[in-house]
Amino acid sequence: MSLWKDFLENRNRETFKCHNYFPVYERHFASWKNRSLVFMEIGVDKGGSLQMWQRYFGPMAKIIGIDINPECKKLEQPGIFIRIGDQSSPEFLQSVIDEFGAPDIVLDDGSHHMKHISATFNYLYPKQHKNALYMVEDLCTCYWEEYGGGIDRQESFITITKNLIDSLNADHSRGAITPDSFTRQTFAIACYDGIIVFEKGDVWRKECCRTGGKPAHGFRSLLKKIFSGTR
Ligand SMILES: C[S@@+](CC[C@H](N)C(=O)[O-])C[C@H]1O[C@@H](n2cnc3c(N)ncnc32)[C@H](O)[C@@H]1O
Repeated sequence: MSLWKDFLENRNRETFKCHNYFPVYERHFASWKNRSLVFMEIGVDKGGSLQMWQRYFGPMAKIIGIDINPECKKLEQPGIFIRIGDQSSPEFLQSVIDEFGAPDIVLDDGSHHMKHISATFNYLYPKQHKNALYMVEDLCTCYWEEYGGGIDRQESFITITKNLIDSLNADHSRGAITPDSFTRQTFAIACYDGIIVFEKGDVWRKECCRTGGKPAHGFRSLLKKIFSGTR
């Protein structure tokens, strides 16, 4: 069953997601189904999304929900672990990592406040392993003042991401931007309406080369030597 169908037919706990997010979830999450996985969603609320993720990822997934509201703890059930704390607290986030390991996937659907989104990202992203995913949703708030947003505002997570796109490309900037750990640990940044996804990757080969066409004479004689055993 597709996640979209599961969401529409949900008669379990309540969840609140935007329709256009589902193709994004499927695009980035599908290859993680039925694997042993630590999936962390920031923002539990009524608990419906945690149940949806459990149905989607399958029995080997550990679904971790974190929320500042202590009431959410009651929504724990087998395979769904809920920890109570502030998403912007490094001590709290570290305690969750100590207990479950670094998450393979983070989905930030928490306070949606700029300072929380970046504090959580800055702490968790470097701790995730090299093929992990980090997704932030409801980034409409990047344009809303009451969430610390605003067009081109330095604190806006959209502005921060625009700068991270430069960091991803730092190797081509002719020294203008110093490559950093983000440059070295990031494979892709995908931007959608309301969602940004960071795909980690250990991208260690970036040289460009031409292949095909007619082999050069020297190369041809080298191949001959190799195959005739004279080398
Ligand atoms: C949008 S709701 C989560 C919805 C849920 N993920 C779903 O899809 O059904 C946001 C949740 O974030 C929690 N929250 C707000 N500020 C937080 C913070 N600083 N740290 C952790 N959770 C926070 C709220 O208590 C609320 O339950």
